[in-house]
Amino acid sequence: MQGTDFTRAILFSLLIFRCAVASCVGPAVRTVVEYPFKTWVENIAVRANGDLLVTLIDHPELHLISPFGPGNTTTEVSAFPDALGLLGIAEFQPDKFAVVVGNWSDVTDKTTAHSYSIWKVDMRPFQAIGSEVIRPAVVKKVVDIPEAVFLNGLTTLNWEEQTILVSDSGLGAVWKVDILNRSYEIILQDSTMAPAPPYNLGINGIHILHGHVYYTNSALELFVRMPIKPNGTKAGDAEILATNHFGDDFTFDNEGNAYVTEDPGNALYKVTPEGSVLTILGGANSSLIEGDTAAQFGRTPADSNILYITTNGGLVNPVDGPPTGGKVIAFNVHCQ
Ligand SMILES: *[C@@H]1O[C@H](CO)[C@@H](O)[C@H](O)[C@H]1NC(C)=O
Ligand SMILES: *[C@@H]1O[C@H](CO)[C@@H](O)[C@H](O)[C@H]1NC(C)=O
Ligand SMILES: *[C@@H]1O[C@H](CO)[C@@H](O)[C@H](O)[C@H]1NC(C)=O
Ligand SMILES: *[C@@H]1O[C@H](CO)[C@@H](O)[C@H](O)[C@H]1NC(C)=O
Ligand SMILES: *[C@@H]1O[C@H](CO)[C@@H](O)[C@H](O)[C@H]1NC(C)=O
Repeated sequence: MQGTDFTRAILFSLLIFRCAVASCVGPAVRTVVEYPFKTWVENIAVRANGDLLVTLIDHPELHLISPFGPGNTTTEVSAFPDALGLLGIAEFQPDKFAVVVGNWSDVTDKTTAHSYSIWKVDMRPFQAIGSEVIRPAVVKKVVDIPEAVFLNGLTTLNWEEQTILVSDSGLGAVWKVDILNRSYEIILQDSTMAPAPPYNLGINGIHILHGHVYYTNSALELFVRMPIKPNGTKAGDAEILATNHFGDDFTFDNEGNAYVTEDPGNALYKVTPEGSVLTILGGANSSLIEGDTAAQFGRTPADSNILYITTNGGLVNPVDGPPTGGKVIAFNVHCQ
């Protein structure tokens, strides 16, 4: 009996070991797409079918990338009028995405207040073969937000009500936008969201998990969470989870670990639910994920352990080496 238990224990350990090893097959890091030099990939959302949707901040364009297709194939889903670029993007209804459109210039590093709007992109009719669009997405402006100074991150608050939260890096506040009513209001404002020199870039990435809104503050180098009510209003004080990292956008895995991009820091750091903060990829002088701007996990069984990381190629703080364009990089988190 004891012998059987012992054998079982050994077999079980072997199985665990095998799974752990088997899940880290292939390269830990792979370049899915590399754009030409001076192309800033800013943000990313993933469709249920596995396609990646990426926004460019220095071209007013939304691109689609199949991570399973041949490398370097991108499809322009849509261009947007009267704007320099696109920023945050999130799915707010099945296969419908909300996007920030406006004028932040990577040439002057400055935002143009009163230039921002929220758009919606319905991907359901969309069809393409390679980079040729066969049937377009339905793209419509939701609303102009002329009072906004620098709209940046975007996340869905309530699917049924079709409400989103949008960070304003210039005001140090969060807007709630009702997509159906086309109405908007400032719903959160806090000292942990405030901007500061040199970039005047306060609250940046924003996501919701278990009744808390999480956000980075780039200028103050903070990663923060704050309890909120279902309608987005404050339900308690802000709690600082990490300091001394220039955070851009981020995402969570199923265990509640946050993966935070650092843009000029050229690294990715992880914040566990227990509060430990570890750099897990790249580094100050590494070109691996140089200028990492945002990250999202794959949504199919084949890539649920793959974190897709967007980059600007290090435009803000280039490391030594040949200049590179913005990228989409696939990182197998089981290989960390
Ligand atoms: C993608 O393009 C980059 C830059 O031109 C090139 O270095 C890389 O080899 C290409 N990758 C693939 C898979 O074609
Ligand atoms: C934003 O930039 C676009 C493209 O350069 C320009 O046409 C538009 O007037 C700008 N908007 C504002 C409010 O400055
Ligand atoms: C938006 O519309 C919904 C239902 O159509 C309504 O319940 C809600 O009060 C409206 N919100 C605003 C801010 O008008
Ligand atoms: C948000 O919900 C709370 C109750 O959870 C309510 O007291 C408050 O008035 C609501 N505020 C807004 C702006 O909808
Ligand atoms: C990066 O390079 C700079 C300049 O060479 C050096 O001072 C710094 O210590 C390096 N940082 C790391 C983390 O290696």
